[in-house]
Amino acid sequence: MTDLVVSEDKIIERILTMELVRVTERAAVASAKLRGHGNEKAADQAAVDAMRRELNKLPIDGTVVIGEGERDEAPMLFIGERVGTTKGPKVDIAVDPLEGTTLCAKDMPGSIAVMAMAQAGTLLYAPDVYMDKIAIGPGYPKGIIDLDKSPEENINALAKAKGCKPNEITALVMDRPRHAELIAKLRAIGCSIRLITDGDVVGVIQCAEPATGIDIYLGIGGAPEGVLAAGALRCVGGQMQGRLILDTPEKVARAATMGVKDPNKKYDLNELASGDVVVAATGVTDGALLKGVKFKGDIIETETIVYRSLTGTVRRITGEHRELAKFHLD
Ligand code: FBP
Repeated sequence: MTDLVVSEDKIIERILTMELVRVTERAAVASAKLRGHGNEKAADQAAVDAMRRELNKLPIDGTVVIGEGERDEAPMLFIGERVGTTKGPKVDIAVDPLEGTTLCAKDMPGSIAVMAMAQAGTLLYAPDVYMDKIAIGPGYPKGIIDLDKSPEENINALAKAKGCKPNEITALVMDRPRHAELIAKLRAIGCSIRLITDGDVVGVIQCAEPATGIDIYLGIGGAPEGVLAAGALRCVGGQMQGRLILDTPEKVARAATMGVKDPNKKYDLNELASGDVVVAATGVTDGALLKGVKFKGDIIETETIVYRSLTGTVRRITGEHRELAKFHLD
C-alpha cells in the first residue's frame, strides 16, 4: 500500500467495490463471445456496450475521465461521458472495456475488461494519447527510478537496490518499433527483456508480483492503461511515473482543456491515481493474471481481481452466472 494519506472526502463508498465487479464481468462475457473471431471492432464494441449498460445501473454520478477517446468516436465510452443513475457520489471513472482487443480477436492470452473508480477529481483527466511509463514493484527506496534518467541509470539503480547485477534484471517492454532504441540499450546492459505484444495494464501490475520474475516496466503504451495500472499499483505497492505524449499542438490544446497545463509534466503514481481507488479486471482470454471466461453450457464462469488502494485489499472473485448463461445460449 502507498503511504498517501487519503482525506475523508476522498474515500469511496466501499459497497461500490462489488458493483465494479459486475461491470467488468459483463464486459468480459460480452467480448469473450467474440474471442478468436478476428474482429477487433466487434469484440471491443460488445465490451463497450455491456460496460456502459452496467455502469448506467450504478448509484453514482460518474464521469469517464480517461478511456476510449473523444465524443465524436461514440458509441465508444468517451472521455467526459456521464455514467450512472446520477443519484450517488460524484466519481471519476477510467475504462478500458476490452484491454487487448487484438489478443481477444486472435484468442491469445491476456485480454481483460478493466475499469477504475475513485472520488471525483482524483484520477488523471486526460485525452486518449500515449504515455511514457516506468514502473517497479514494492520494497525499494523511494525515487530510485526516474523517467528522465537513461535506461542504464534506472537499471543500475534498481540492480543495486535489489542486490544483483544489472544483467540479472528482467525488464518488460511492449514489442513495438518505437522501442528499438530502448531495447538496444537494455540489450547492451545484458538485461533480460520480456516482450509483450499487447496488454500493458497487466504488464505494469506484473512488476509487483515476484513470481513473474519481472523487475521493471519501461516504455510507451496507452495513457488510460497507465492510469488503470497506477490504480492497481497504488494498492499493492510499487513506484511508477508517467508522462503524456502530447506531440501535436492539437493534443496539447485538447489536454489543456482538461486541465493539463504543463504538457511535459511527469506524473507520479499518486498523481495518476490518487484518493481511494478501486480497480476491477475480469479475464476475457486466459492470461498470467486471470483466467478467461468459460462458457460451460448453463453456467458461465468468470474470474475477476479487485484492488482497493485505501486498504491494500486484493480480492479474487470467481463468478458462476446462470441467468447470464441462459441469455448467451444460442
Ligand atoms: P487496446 O486493446 O485498447 O487496443 O490496447 C492494447 C494495448 O496493447 C495496450 O495494452 C497498450 O497500452 C496499447 O495497446 C499500446 O498501443 P499501441 O498498440 O498503439 O502500441
